[in-house]
Amino acid sequence: MKKFNFNIAIVGLGNIGSNLYKHLILNRKSIYKKTNSHFYLKYVSSKNKSKKRKIKIPKNQWLKNYSEAYTKKDIDIVIELIGGSEGAAKNLVFNALKNKKHVVTANKALISKYGDTLSKLAEKNNVNLEFEAAVAGGVPIIRTIKEGLITNKISKIYGILNGTSNFILSVMSKTNLNLKDVIKKAQSLGYAESNPKSDLDGTDAESKIQILSSLAFQSFINRSKINVEGIEKIDQVDIKNAKILGFKVKHLAIAEIKNNKLIQRVHPCFVKKDSYISNINGVLNAVIIEGLPIGKFTIQGEGAGPGPTTSALTSDICSILRGNIKLPFSIPNSKRKRISSIDISEEFFSSYIRLDVKDKTGVLSSITKILSKNNVSVKRLIQNPYKSKKFASIIIISHRSKNTNIEKSVRELGKKKFILNKPKFFRIEEI
Ligand SMILES: NC(=O)c1ccc[n+]([C@@H]2O[C@H](COP(=O)([O-])OP(=O)(O)OC[C@H]3O[C@@H](n4cnc5c(N)ncnc54)[C@H](OP(=O)(O)O)[C@@H]3O)[C@@H](O)[C@H]2O)c1
Repeated sequence: MKKFNFNIAIVGLGNIGSNLYKHLILNRKSIYKKTNSHFYLKYVSSKNKSKKRKIKIPKNQWLKNYSEAYTKKDIDIVIELIGGSEGAAKNLVFNALKNKKHVVTANKALISKYGDTLSKLAEKNNVNLEFEAAVAGGVPIIRTIKEGLITNKISKIYGILNGTSNFILSVMSKTNLNLKDVIKKAQSLGYAESNPKSDLDGTDAESKIQILSSLAFQSFINRSKINVEGIEKIDQVDIKNAKILGFKVKHLAIAEIKNNKLIQRVHPCFVKKDSYISNINGVLNAVIIEGLPIGKFTIQGEGAGPGPTTSALTSDICSILRGNIKLPFSIPNSKRKRISSIDISEEFFSSYIRLDVKDKTGVLSSITKILSKNNVSVKRLIQNPYKSKKFASIIIISHRSKNTNIEKSVRELGKKKFILNKPKFFRIEEI
């Protein structure tokens, strides 16, 4: 077999970059055995060269500036580990591809925003653009769709794509801790960043499901009409109510094709407590695919952190060393489709509605009147009175009703004088 040599530059030596650097040095021989190609870890770059790091880097490996990673002739593979969809990361990846360098990145924000343009650039220049680490950390879901499930017609892909929010919901479900305290716990354990906004508001999972759905449905990345809700509004009362009713609260990202239209949504759901997905706990991620001829396929594993992310990055590097397929989204760009998308307003869900109300006569009939006016029929209603506080918590489980009608009811109920707190509404997901 013919042997190739590849020179690698790692740009970004933070949590992930420094761990990858160590791993590549330690596994040089085994990578050669598995790929029959040699690589040389030739250059590195980061923002602050004099920063103290856990790894020792010889002086001659430092580039003067990250832009040398795309201008220097003796670099074949650029590994972008800066992060963010703009600035240095964007400049580096665009220019590296233009200069015919293979690119490996863990950057979901960049790929979900510019993946289509970058993919065309990679194809035009006949180089790889690999991003296994951008979705679900150590879970090799991208390569699985691109290769293992290549001939399947996928109709639905969904799962838990954000380990931080899953960790928070799992701890809240096992303890009495509130959301704020669990976020602090996650930060102290290194599971949440100092600013965990994109984990909590659902936008991290949004980027990931956009990437997965374009791979699964062989389409361009679709960023429109996505329904995105985070976990910020979940409290212990909802977690406990879910338990009493036989559910667990999970934050899911879902993409499916219905009547040739794409529906993408990211939001917290009530799922049956004995379902597969409800037992994915802590920082684990899980992805489920429904397709033909495979049927139902599931894969799970650690979704973030240096170890799992390094595993995904090295798998991408090995793919390049082996000379594997160069098409970033598995098929040529000319064959990718544009699928029009619809939002979830016309979709039907059974739902959990929680209303904290003043405990007085007439409230219940007023609530049921609003629901019935909007064609939302009640399957179950539980009233928990708190006499001392003169309020009651009313839990309603609705029959399957149109999303737009449930939301309208909740909005109308929220305006009533007898409502004490903003009404809560979570969809019940039958998976
Ligand atoms: N952390 C995870 O668990 C995880 C999981 C999956 C994917 N990812 C993705 O992996 C990427 C890296 O994440 P991380 O956690 O390693 O981030 P990080 O710890 O913040 O590291 C970022 C690195 O980028 C460098 N950098 C910033 N601006 C630069 C510039 N202009 N030129 C050169 N280098 C620059 C920084 O340099 P200095 O060190 O000199 O400041 C730092 O080394 C992100 O895209 C992230 O979304 C992370």
